[in-house]
Amino acid sequence: MSDSKRLTLSEWFHQETKYDRRTINLLPRPDFDGQPMPWKQWHSRHPVDLVPYLPFEDFPLGPAEDQEPLDPRSLGDEVRAISRTLFFTCGATGFQQTPEGTQIFRAAPSAGALYPTEVMVVLREIEGLKNGLYAYSVPHHQLVLLYEGVEMEEVAAACWDDPAFEEAKMCVVLTGLWQRSRWRYHDRAYRRILLDTGHVLGNLVHAAGHEGYQAKVRTRFIDSRLQSLLFLDDEEEGALALVPLVPWQSAGVEIRHEESTLEVRSSSATPLAAPPAEDPIVALQRAGELLDDSAAKALAMKPALEEEGHTVFPLKGTMADLSGEFCSISVQRRSTRQFTGASIEAKDLGRVLDFSHRFMRAESTQLLGAGPLLDVHCITQRVKGIDSGHWQYCCEKHQLFLRKAGDHRRSLQEYCLGQDLAGDAAAAVIYTAPLADAVRLLGDRLYRDLHLDSGFLGHQINLACMRLNAGVSGIAGFFDDSLGEFLGLPEGHIVTYITLIGDPMPGG
Ligand SMILES: Cc1cc2nc3c(=O)[nH]c(=O)nc-3n(C[C@H](O)[C@H](O)[C@H](O)COP(=O)(O)O)c2cc1C
Repeated sequence: MSDSKRLTLSEWFHQETKYDRRTINLLPRPDFDGQPMPWKQWHSRHPVDLVPYLPFEDFPLGPAEDQEPLDPRSLGDEVRAISRTLFFTCGATGFQQTPEGTQIFRAAPSAGALYPTEVMVVLREIEGLKNGLYAYSVPHHQLVLLYEGVEMEEVAAACWDDPAFEEAKMCVVLTGLWQRSRWRYHDRAYRRILLDTGHVLGNLVHAAGHEGYQAKVRTRFIDSRLQSLLFLDDEEEGALALVPLVPWQSAGVEIRHEESTLEVRSSSATPLAAPPAEDPIVALQRAGELLDDSAAKALAMKPALEEEGHTVFPLKGTMADLSGEFCSISVQRRSTRQFTGASIEAKDLGRVLDFSHRFMRAESTQLLGAGPLLDVHCITQRVKGIDSGHWQYCCEKHQLFLRKAGDHRRSLQEYCLGQDLAGDAAAAVIYTAPLADAVRLLGDRLYRDLHLDSGFLGHQINLACMRLNAGVSGIAGFFDDSLGEFLGLPEGHIVTYITLIGDPMPGG
């Protein structure tokens, strides 16, 4: 078989990790006794205690009894920004007593509350702190120095000396810990880890902005260099994003040079002769690796949808920002566990779609690596003023284009593994992408970006819904092919993520 006909590793992986109603019950039951801790247990006698910098006083956990944190008076002003940025990005915002102990919920949601995204920061030239790599301890809200001598310049070098690092004294590093999600979700965990990490990035851009910093998200770097700089074993953990934080006054605005294209470094695409011998998650993460000399290719922006005889619904509601409410939204955010089944207003759906997809528009900053490739579908089930049906959303025109009229509540519930939440939702936003063509053009790295970006956008939907007191939840478990067929996806296209929106049950 010629290489062009063979499946790429990304396509094979996606195919292997699809849920199908005929086989889902054959998946091994998760071993709950083998569940890893949702955080790494770092200990330092002299941590950087970040609790005193929080804008409230009742954070329940702080330094352990045997710790003597560094004196806050000896530390530079940036520590306040680090404290608040990390807390509102992924800090411990909910504590629930369970028979097994205290379950900690975080500012960013996570599939199954497994929290496979680990957070570290590289710091330089901050008064009172050594340059180096620090781990963020979520339960104690503190930084622990891991490795002195990990220099920002080396991190920048792993990013082809990206100028974004020049003015940065802080760089957030996000990694994915495979087993933390895989013990439960098997190989499909990789998709969820990427979506979760996208959610964390989705908070980070706002949290940093609130502290006066621009978060310059970088999901492309020279993997082997970065992995060894961070002392990561790629069988267990992989770097997923680097985010230098640059003060707004020196950040500059990253606008796409030509509105019609985006330059992205691409990996090779691995045509498969046989399934990989190694662990599929590790194999795909490796297949997407970028090298010192990985070239940039042009990714064309999608043209706006045209009417072509479709019914068009022009959305009215818009939402330019969160009106300074980000921090309170972040601490109060919870995924909705149950919708009432009541309707939402068309204007509110418009606001949510407008706010969330600003990042996909041609004039937006370059936050997304693959965003222009994603298609945005919207299933309206109970939206006052909008007929029930399957629509496609055009973010450039802020319009919905009707694809299939009708009440699809029961079908959507069935596609979402029978979850009541889907049947009771008022609307669902679904991202899809042309995986086969895109991977052949831009390489296996694209698989990461498609899911990171979907999580990032899904998170904006979460924030917008919270702003409007609407209910919201991500859904990463769905019957891939049935849903793809329902959406009318052409061959080689995949569904990456679903976000449900609706009227939340009080206390749900
Ligand atoms: C990628 C992703 C997938 C999720 N999938 C589901 C799902 O299929 N069903 C569901 O009820 N909740 C789902 N959730 C919500 C999580 O269960 C929830 O985020 C987690 O329990 C933490 O709670 P919190 O979001 O209220 O903080 C998902 C969340 C994420 C980020």
